[in-house]
Formats: sequence, structure tokens, C-alpha cells
Amino acid sequence: MPERLIIGISGASGAIFGIRLLETLAQSNEYETHLIISPSARVTIVQETTYSVSQVEALADVVHNPADIGASIASGSFRVRGMIVAPCSIKMLSGVANSYDADLLTRAADVQLKEGRPLLLMLRETPLHVGHLRLMVQAAEAGAIIMPPVPAFYSKPETVEDIVNNIVGRALARMGIENELYYEWLGMRKGRPAPNA
Ligand SMILES: Cc1cc2nc3c(=O)[nH]c(=O)nc-3n(C[C@H](O)[C@H](O)[C@H](O)COP(=O)(O)O)c2cc1C
Repeated sequence: MPERLIIGISGASGAIFGIRLLETLAQSNEYETHLIISPSARVTIVQETTYSVSQVEALADVVHNPADIGASIASGSFRVRGMIVAPCSIKMLSGVANSYDADLLTRAADVQLKEGRPLLLMLRETPLHVGHLRLMVQAAEAGAIIMPPVPAFYSKPETVEDIVNNIVGRALARMGIENELYYEWLGMRKGRPAPNA
């Protein structure tokens, strides 16, 4: 049976990160993906990408309604590998940091922390005030991985696609899921590094 992985898409800019994650996992067939899209993310998907919400949902194995607090993934007894929230809004971060489990997105995230499973928050906001920074510390202290989608330039990206792939690849690797979306740094040299394979 494939392992289960929860993907949350909240209403920060960068819906494409969650979409690329789903596309990558759908290709690998190794994970059963459980998707939650917040109401705000439904807006950003349409605003920022060429995908419709139903096209994004079709990439997942199971789609959960964010209002369904009785869903399987709301319980720690339901075995999952962990959860990635990409992108993660400040509101979502605040929910995680304060265990304010008002919907399935924040409840499922809180469950990962209480069960000692990895929870990666691809937090997207800039600039950050001290309240945001405090929430990040609070969430990290509870066990969350704070991974803002900050681009790397040493891999010499040529397109936005390259930047998105690199960030998504590194997020998956941080969850222990190896993939070929990013380039492995093998030391200083000229030109583009070889793909990670
Ligand atoms: C186009 C667009 C871009 C947004 N970008 C961000 C962002 O980068 N970071 C953020 O925290 N909120 C951003 N927001 C605001 C959130 O969508 C808003 O705070 C929302 O309440 C978050 O709800 P959610 O966490 O339930 O998805 C954006 C909203 C829109 C419409």
C-alpha cells in the first residue's frame, strides 16, 4: 500500500508550489495524496495559475473539504507520512503556532505535530514583522519545518519553472522524499550542474 501524504494549499501567493508537488507525487505513484484547499487558495489558484480548482483536485488521490473536521486525516490514528502546506499563509502559520484548529487544514497540521510526524510549512510573506517571526519560532518549537520558498541562484535557473521545481524538489527532499526536481551541488564549476538523479 502506498504511504499517505497530506498536501495543504492555503491562500498565500504561490499556489503553483502546491500544484507542482501534486503533479510530482502523482507521477511517482508512491504516495496516496490527501489534498485540502482552503477557500482563499481557491481564489489564488484562479488568480495566479492557468489551472482550474477542479484540475488541481484531479491531481490528488483524495480531496477533503476544509470544513470536514470529521475527515480521516483529522485523527492521529489515520497513518500518514506527514504533511506539506505549500504555500502557507500567515493565517495558517498562526493557526499552527497556536493550535487553533478551526478547520481541517489546521487540524491536520496540528495532528502531525502531536504525532511527531513531519509538517513542512512553505511560508510565503514578505516583509515579515516581529509577530510573524515569533509565530515561526513558536511553530518551529512545536516541531514544524519552516521553509519559505526562497529561490537559489547557484543552480542557474533560466525560467520560473526552474525556480519552482528547485524549491518543490528541496521541500520533498526535506521530507525524506527523494526526487529529480532539483540539482545536487557538487562543488564550484562553470555552467549548469547535472540533474540530481
Ligand atoms: C492574490 C492573493 C495573494 C495573497 N498572498 C498572500 C501571501 O503571500 N501571504 C499571506 O500570508 N497571505 C496572502 N494573501 C492573503 C490570504 O489569502 C488571506 O490572509 C487568507 O485569509 C488566508 O486564508 P487561509 O490561510 O485559510 O488560506 C493573498 C491573497 C490573495 C488574494
